Amino acid sequence: MLRIDTSAVPPQKLEALLPQTLEAHRKLQARSGAGAEYTGWVTLPGDYDRDEYQRLLEAAERVAARSGVLVVVGIGGSYLGSRAVIDFLLSPFYNGTAGKKTPDILFAGCNLSGAALQKLTERIGERDFTVNVISKSGGTTEPAVAFRYFRALAEKRYGKEGAKKRIIATTDKARGVLKSLSGEMGYETFVIPDGVGGRYSVLTPVGLLPIAAAGIDTGTLLAGARTMMDACKTAAGLENPALAYAAARNALYEGGKKTEVLASFDPDFVYMGEWWKQLYGESEGKEGKGLFPAAVSYTADLHSMGQYMQQGERTLFETFVRSDTPRGGITVGTEPGNADGLNFLAGKTIDAINDAAYEGTKKAHTDGGVPCLTVDTGPKGAEALGELIYFFEYACGVSGYMLGVNPFDQPGVEAYKKNMFTLLGKPG
Ligand code: PA5
Repeated sequence: MLRIDTSAVPPQKLEALLPQTLEAHRKLQARSGAGAEYTGWVTLPGDYDRDEYQRLLEAAERVAARSGVLVVVGIGGSYLGSRAVIDFLLSPFYNGTAGKKTPDILFAGCNLSGAALQKLTERIGERDFTVNVISKSGGTTEPAVAFRYFRALAEKRYGKEGAKKRIIATTDKARGVLKSLSGEMGYETFVIPDGVGGRYSVLTPVGLLPIAAAGIDTGTLLAGARTMMDACKTAAGLENPALAYAAARNALYEGGKKTEVLASFDPDFVYMGEWWKQLYGESEGKEGKGLFPAAVSYTADLHSMGQYMQQGERTLFETFVRSDTPRGGITVGTEPGNADGLNFLAGKTIDAINDAAYEGTKKAHTDGGVPCLTVDTGPKGAEALGELIYFFEYACGVSGYMLGVNPFDQPGVEAYKKNMFTLLGKPG
């Protein structure tokens, strides 16, 4: 079971925030806070639609049987979760794995780069593909433009009827252009449940279909999320890990920290960092408030951001995420002559060296004036990841309420769109 270490924050500061923390927790459970209509995700790991889920698993199997590539078209919460889970549980090298029986998963519609779309098309090559277009609103420009492109590509390759069987839409049950278009064209659709916003949707068909298509055990992922859902519901004080995290980050924010840096020593975690950044950035960054969420991947980033972390502005704190990964693997060899001076490491696994790097970094940053929290997920796997996802989501809801914002809207995202549409001459 996931554990959090908040000992970098003085206990009296956490205690002082306890009434606020409990009130935020109460509001989230009672669904009575700001944006309550978007808190469907709170009970989702327990009350998801079982029939829809079964249909989703069957669709994932069909995709794997008939396609070498699944193109996931979506942006923000409509792709980050699945990408993060696939990278973390399989590998960022998943697509290149020789002999695998599941399709490559390629992500499109998460930018407006024509060159990137071109390269992605070349990457598909002659292989059969299926498209899963994902958009809650059904009208977001980036995925809509990419989907128009892939629809045409699929129709060219498979004909109109054939393309129908190779396009799956994940969207709102009733609203939006994607829903109406899917109805018109006869595409298979999956529903993003009411009350679940994009960045809280990884455990809906948004995330689960691509994750299942990659061969990951989504049942175990959901079971882990359920375990954390129960823990978050029943543990009312600071022994509740999500409440402890929410209280700690708010205590640090009130104490003048402006940036939270999520740090991992596992290169598979990079996209989890991207998912976490969206979750916290979009949920809390409003009304001139909110911690700036940043993420680093160590030890690589110790050679780029390590200097800043050690000696830059002291307005940040760090949250390390640790998982027990299978040990063994590659060890450092012995070399006669010791020309590179590395014989002191001979016989050690690379992972053991990585552990020492973590211990050394945490101590150095603490000594350098950076408060360090640690989230320990236990054994790396689908169950622990399910727990971690729900933990971060729940803590985000609580933390946003403590900050006094609505953690479930994103009004600021409209500003760039308005300017872009004016420049592009979109009819009123
Ligand atoms: O969290 C959110 O709601 C957003 O970040 C969305 O995920 C993102 O804007 C994509 O929206 P949509 O799924 O409607 O295309």
